[in-house]
Amino acid sequence: MMNVAVIGTGYVGLVTGVVLSEIGHTVTCIDIDEKKVEIMQKGKSPIYEPGLEDLLVKNISKNRLAFTTNHKKAFEKSEIIFIAVGTPQSESGAADLKYIKQAAKDIAQYITNDTVVVVKSTVPVGTNDLVENIIKQELKLDVKVEVVSNPEFLREGHAIHDTFHGDRIVIGSDKEKPGDKIEALFTPLKLPIVRTNRRSAEMIKYAANAFLAVKISYINQIANLCEKLDADVNAVAEGIGMDSRIGRAFLNAGLGYGGSCFPKDTEALAFLAKEYNTSLNIVDAAIQANSNQSEIFTQKIIDRFKGNVQGKSFAILGLAFKPNTDDLREAPALKIIEKLLSLGAKVKVYDPIVQHLNEYQAGVLEHCQSIQECMDNVDATLLVTEWDEFIENDWKELRKYPNQPLLFDGRNILPTDKLVKLGWQVEGIGQAQ
Ligand code: UGA
Repeated sequence: MMNVAVIGTGYVGLVTGVVLSEIGHTVTCIDIDEKKVEIMQKGKSPIYEPGLEDLLVKNISKNRLAFTTNHKKAFEKSEIIFIAVGTPQSESGAADLKYIKQAAKDIAQYITNDTVVVVKSTVPVGTNDLVENIIKQELKLDVKVEVVSNPEFLREGHAIHDTFHGDRIVIGSDKEKPGDKIEALFTPLKLPIVRTNRRSAEMIKYAANAFLAVKISYINQIANLCEKLDADVNAVAEGIGMDSRIGRAFLNAGLGYGGSCFPKDTEALAFLAKEYNTSLNIVDAAIQANSNQSEIFTQKIIDRFKGNVQGKSFAILGLAFKPNTDDLREAPALKIIEKLLSLGAKVKVYDPIVQHLNEYQAGVLEHCQSIQECMDNVDATLLVTEWDEFIENDWKELRKYPNQPLLFDGRNILPTDKLVKLGWQVEGIGQAQ
């Protein structure tokens, strides 16, 4: 078993730290945010992620997991240091590497042992080289440092499951030994391992996310065409998905992809292609289609009200960009709400987990505590996030709350035929009307 430090306790860093401790390693997670560190030391997760808190509590109590703001202390015994800090989108679309560079500097300043540094953050091709150069330039002691790329493929809301049951672990190392060490670290997970060089590993991450984004945008555009042609995109997804060369996953038509990964990573990859003067217009098109998708949905609603939603009230079911997370980053709900408000509509919102609206949102939205309260007296209901609570609800009972039985299913998740029998008028995405 090994001693590991993890820099950054966002989704990726915290889950990595917790899982490594669960499989027996001794892990210290570092974050600059003192309050957050205090919360985690008490066994509380700062993010909503099913299963995470139980493992946090368990491994803290077994003394295999600790949290600190002190790099020096965390690095004292560590033989492996993970960098899992954010790489936000900068104005140009490129990934902003300021936190990565700072982490490299901190490592150079405080390590006292030979160390394998593992870059887990999603980073543009060549960043591992940059990290190695910064560390080598700024190193204070005469110790050996190797840098290995190990991109992450977990999904928010399924993070623990994905880490234990992932399809593969990618290890990119230009030298054999440090790669072997990281492979040994993950051995207890018993997952398939892909060994390659650092640049290929970095590219695997972007290429995977962009491919999935393209797949989503493709089915969304097919859905829009289905609507015009009276075809049903659900049947189309089923029919093409059974071809094992295509696969059914990520063919759910909806409001477009959101979250902290696909929007940012597709932009960063597109930027990289432009920088190297290489066409990657398939990704440009996926980005554009994604940006249009929630607008097409909103327009459908506006058209239903003959172009005038002024004074009409709408129930928005779900704010998070997808179920089982409280993450609002790039959530389609925000764009839909903004548009409806700008046209003078009244908007009521309900999400089973998202409780904190920012000041602006709190001022202009009616934030409800239940689906019933949200749907009470509205002119139309918009299902925006496919939470189980919405799917499993008693739609017969819910029928008594809104003024009109108008239901826009932005995720194609509700049983339309059944609901129509209950008196609802349902409009999905890419379905015959
Ligand atoms: C995504 C990838 O799935 C992970 O493999 C990757 O590790 C992660 O990004 C990352 O780079 O960190 P995540 O953003 O958590 O994970 O969520 P997904 O479940 O992949 O969903 C992304 C978006 O696509 C959501 O907005 C979802 O609603 C949308 N989506 C997904 C669809 O619209 N249709 C689908 O069929 C599937």
